[in-house]
Amino acid sequence: MKKKIIISGNWKMNKTIQETETFLEEIKTLNLNKNIEICLFIPYTNLATAIKYSNNMKIGAQNCHWEEFGTFTGEISVRMLDSLGIKNILIGHSERRKYFKENCEIINKKIHIALKYDMNITLCVGETLEERNSKIERQAILSQLKKSFYNVSKDFISNFIIAYEPVWAIGTGITAEPSQAEEMCKFIKKSVYELYKKSIRVIYGGSVNSGNIENFLKQNNINGCLIGASSLKVENFEKLINKCV
Ligand code: PGA
Repeated sequence: MKKKIIISGNWKMNKTIQETETFLEEIKTLNLNKNIEICLFIPYTNLATAIKYSNNMKIGAQNCHWEEFGTFTGEISVRMLDSLGIKNILIGHSERRKYFKENCEIINKKIHIALKYDMNITLCVGETLEERNSKIERQAILSQLKKSFYNVSKDFISNFIIAYEPVWAIGTGITAEPSQAEEMCKFIKKSVYELYKKSIRVIYGGSVNSGNIENFLKQNNINGCLIGASSLKVENFEKLINKCV
């Protein structure tokens, strides 16, 4: 059977509870392709509402803390997310790495705690422009993968989707060439296979929209896309999903 295409939306720091409700109510009325696995990563404050209105879509959190509980003012733990019924989580997004100084060691700790609660993890990896210009993008990705997966048992590999998101393509309007994205997604699959002898699903993210998504999905090693800006408006998201056949 053909594997479902994965379309994940990353709302980042956007939408109130009311706006979340309106989006999900509207999208429910549309006839979206059932063969697509949709997951929306939305702000913590909207998760409880989103679960109520989610219909067939998966709902996930954009982050978590690496401890289960404790003296970490302002943080949210996987234990709390689990108690809400959340089973999907985005870890290692480049904006977390850039603005909140998350490194691979922190990401690895978050992965371990998320796996303790049997979460499905979308792990983001991606090279910077400097790394690409210095032609060390493969080393950069391999290092991120190895450090993020440190001490992760192969029994958990099926909990992961890897999102390849070149940092220079996120929120910039510049997309990777589909062939560049394909090459890197293939490299990620091969690297994980070499580490674990298991296959993994890999999606591409970075300025994907309804005008370019087909070019990415045509590639052999791209199982779907992670969408930021184009996941915020129902009409854009619908257009994009209808291009995934
Ligand atoms: P973008 O965001 O589609 O707006 O580039 C992608 C992401 O940050 O996951």
